[in-house]
Amino acid sequence: MKRFCDLADFSREEVVDLLQLAQRLVQHPEPQALAGKVLGLLFFNNSLRTLASMQAGMSKLGGSSFVITPGNGTYRMETRLGVAMDGDAAEHIREGLPVMSSFCDVMGIRAFADGRNLDADINETAFNAMAELVADKPLINLESAMSHPCQALADWKTMDDIGVPRTGRFVLSWVWHPRALPLAVPSTALHMAAQRGMDVVVLRPEGFALPAPLMDKARRAAAASGGRVSETSDRREALQGAQVIYAKEWGATAAYGDAQADAALRASLSHWCVRNDWFDHTDPACRLMHCLPVRRNTAIADEVLDGPRSVVLREAHNRLIVQMAVLHRMLKEAR
Ligand code: CP
Repeated sequence: MKRFCDLADFSREEVVDLLQLAQRLVQHPEPQALAGKVLGLLFFNNSLRTLASMQAGMSKLGGSSFVITPGNGTYRMETRLGVAMDGDAAEHIREGLPVMSSFCDVMGIRAFADGRNLDADINETAFNAMAELVADKPLINLESAMSHPCQALADWKTMDDIGVPRTGRFVLSWVWHPRALPLAVPSTALHMAAQRGMDVVVLRPEGFALPAPLMDKARRAAAASGGRVSETSDRREALQGAQVIYAKEWGATAAYGDAQADAALRASLSHWCVRNDWFDHTDPACRLMHCLPVRRNTAIADEVLDGPRSVVLREAHNRLIVQMAVLHRMLKEAR
């Protein structure tokens, strides 16, 4: 495996196989598997889970890692082409990335959406340009404009761990946040659940529908795996019989790149906060998932996060486990 950039690049069977490797590494640890190997990490955006779990996972397999967060102890990095670099950025990715990749055996990059041009973000223009600069090395996407495959893999494992049926009802629900957040996690969670074969419902207010190309892609995955994908703004209809509520904040797609219009659209939506009564008509065993970080009592109430339905900490821990499988497959098995 040379690239782990989008879970959609893998068949359902390949994902299941990767999760089996993750389980094998839990049961039979391989603390020297990647001895002498180096992971290079480039984070253009903040992180707790991804940064810590990538470094911890590499260590547990016997390898080591370095981290560059441009502008924090290193030069600010320019990503645009053809600009005169007379501002804050002293280094361009066209030099910085190949230099970094020459120091390591595998690279991970986090670069969130630019958030101004929806088509450019859907096409992963910025991330793909960076990927080309490290074409000679394996690459892991640590969250790009529309994809967060490590999170999706951990979420799939979490549902397996807690016994959510393959065909269970998975409700991806928009929840409130004071400002627009990127589409990477909701679009990847949508696709992951469709690929798993689930009955996926996207629950969102008007103005926040996920872009048609992402919905279409998920519908194709569902068709291949026996699942289905639908969307609604009717909470009661969506949550009926749900086995998972996957809460996520994202920006108004009807006003992409327009902060003022986005703010106007979300101004009256602060009641989209997951509370215990959201579970009144779900399956009795319904669980609450969220990728974290989460703002308490804006997106999800304390009563849910601190209650028995929440599996958010398990999801976060599974990041470590599944990423070790990705690193192992890339660097040890080289298949
Ligand atoms: N879920 C997730 O990717 O968390 P971080 O932003 O902390 O890495």
